[in-house]
Amino acid sequence: TGLVTYDPGFANTASCASEITYIDGDAGVLRYRGYPIDQLANGSTFIETSYLLIYGELPTAQQLGEFEDKIRRHTLLHEDLKRFFDGFPRDAHPMPVLSSAVSALSTFYQDSHNPFDAEQVELSTVRLLAKLPTIAAYAYKKSVGQPFLYPDNSLGLVENFLRMTFGLPAEPYEPDPVIVRALDMLFVLHADHEQNCSTSTVRLVGSSQANLFASVSAGINALFGPLHGGANQSVLEMLESIRHSGGDVGSFVQKVKAREAGVKLMGFGHRVYKNYDPRAAIVKKTADEILTGLGKRDDLLDIALELEGVALSDDYFIERKLYPNVDFYTGLLYRAMGFPTKMFTVLFAIGRLPGWIAQWHEMINDPQTKIGRPRQLYTGPGEREFVPVGKR
Ligand code: CMC
Repeated sequence: TGLVTYDPGFANTASCASEITYIDGDAGVLRYRGYPIDQLANGSTFIETSYLLIYGELPTAQQLGEFEDKIRRHTLLHEDLKRFFDGFPRDAHPMPVLSSAVSALSTFYQDSHNPFDAEQVELSTVRLLAKLPTIAAYAYKKSVGQPFLYPDNSLGLVENFLRMTFGLPAEPYEPDPVIVRALDMLFVLHADHEQNCSTSTVRLVGSSQANLFASVSAGINALFGPLHGGANQSVLEMLESIRHSGGDVGSFVQKVKAREAGVKLMGFGHRVYKNYDPRAAIVKKTADEILTGLGKRDDLLDIALELEGVALSDDYFIERKLYPNVDFYTGLLYRAMGFPTKMFTVLFAIGRLPGWIAQWHEMINDPQTKIGRPRQLYTGPGEREFVPVGKR
């Protein structure tokens, strides 16, 4: 049977070779297709970065225009898929609503089932990029009991998403350009992160030759967990609970160190970064600027800044090389933009989508790909004799 390596959490296992994203966790470096994350965050847009991740090169102006047009043509959801939202309870968390609706896309696009049909894969790619923001906005509308708005395809992806989320049918909606730019940049920061839990899930599901919708739906469910994308929601809840108990940051940190009832400093630590997460550095700076710019500077930012300061000068965190990760400051920005806490991880999912798609494409086209099938160390009982129920 050969030698089996025991590697819990795959901490030391490279499951694939990839040309997409490079991380140097000790130096705090992140690049998509060779381009440093800060250059993309400042100079690129989410659509352009999506193109880069999926097709490997930055688009020319013409390629970019064509790509945007293609996406615009597919933003609408089938009326039957819209009705799908009626079946969920009103207070449903939008993440499982999102994954269910994405999974349901497989039933609407039965032409998507052959992962080796490049033309159909391209169509599924565009459909996903176009429809996920619409699905996300409808998950929000459902939760607040407001009518769904059809996409307005004269708008860009982020403006359209904001309008479908916060707009009302009879009222004109003008998204604040500061919010549009900040959200676009946050999507760029989330767009890929090599073999994280959700991306590995997308690849693993896809390795059985399941289609793109099924694979991405599984990725969304993996992202839902609080140790992964769900951390952005948990961070805000943590900051609120610290404020609620009088803003005593020091005693909260003591609880974390004492490992009281599994309390963790959410938004801290990372499997790969043993230095400041470069995305967190950009988000922190932006949060400070935007919150002040929008006149929405709130005391939760002050609690977060104090918490970071206390943690980074404490031996527990220093010894373990625990730094803020991308989720530590994003929630403060999403909140200032008007999103409820439950929507935070949905925003992460919209951002991560091009990465999942790019990794799925790479996986399906890689001749080295085999079905993902880890081994185990069996630790159960040896052979025993079956005893019928009447004799037990
Ligand atoms: N608070 C307190 N202690 C921590 C934390 C934390 N946030 N993170 C790690 N540690 C401790 C951990 O208890 C362990 O200590 P010891 O060696 O004494 O047992 C040590 O640091 C090493 O941690 P680990 O759990 O072995 O590290 P991991 O690579 O398995 O886990 C992680 C990485 C991100 C799941 C973890 O750091 C964590 O749970 N962080 C909080 C949740 C979070 O912010 N997740 C977002 C991750 S970044 C983007 C994303 O995926 O969304």
